Amino acid sequence: MVPVPTDAGLPEAYPKHLESSFEVKDGRTVWVRAILPSDAADLADAIEHADRETLLHRFFTAAPHLTDRQIHYLAEVDYRRRLALIARDADGEGVAVVRYECHPETNTAEVAVAVAPEWRRLGIATELLRRLEDPARENGFEVLDAVYLPDNHAVARVFERLGYSSPCIEDGLASVSKALV
Ligand SMILES: CC(C)(COP(=O)(O)OP(=O)(O)OC[C@H]1O[C@@H](n2cnc3c(N)ncnc32)[C@H](O)[C@@H]1OP(=O)(O)O)[C@@H](O)C(=O)NCCC(=O)NCCS
Repeated sequence: MVPVPTDAGLPEAYPKHLESSFEVKDGRTVWVRAILPSDAADLADAIEHADRETLLHRFFTAAPHLTDRQIHYLAEVDYRRRLALIARDADGEGVAVVRYECHPETNTAEVAVAVAPEWRRLGIATELLRRLEDPARENGFEVLDAVYLPDNHAVARVFERLGYSSPCIEDGLASVSKALV
């Protein structure tokens, strides 16, 4: 089943134009759309079952213990100051999540991404981060930034390829940014 939602019950601001699909390096197709509140349960399940290194790299702690409220916060975005895209496979299984979150009262948003281990090294993080750039720009952001653990060579490579700045390492974290102009 291709998991494109019906219009009934969609949040008013849901950006339908961001629904798309693309072929990954091994020829499989993934389907992309903006996150919906109804994705909260799948998101919670993915976080609960993620391996230690994935959690460490995504949340900077191997045991994030997210509350229901925090999970709902991740799944319920306004599609403008906060936006997340999810990718699923042809069976509707979760493949990846990418998001930006505004830094309050700035024109900068912070991006983060996670790809399921069995779908890595296929260009998915690179493509999803690229697909966040137009909506971020359209929503008034001029800069995207990101922080990651300095030993996360995979995401460092992704940001490098997307034209982010060279990493600045401070207090045990690497940070990069990219102007959207
Ligand atoms: C980091 C992560 C998002 C990358 O996702 P992905 O879909 O595999 O990324 P891509 O396929 O687009 O690109 C990965 C690049 O890193 C490279 N790479 C992968 N593992 C690497 C490693 N250990 N060392 C160096 N480069 C590595 C790949 O070769 C590829 O570059 P290339 O295409 O030039 O060869 C994924 O590994 C992940 O979800 N990690 C856990 C969560 C996380 O780290 N999130 C980032 C927080 S901002």
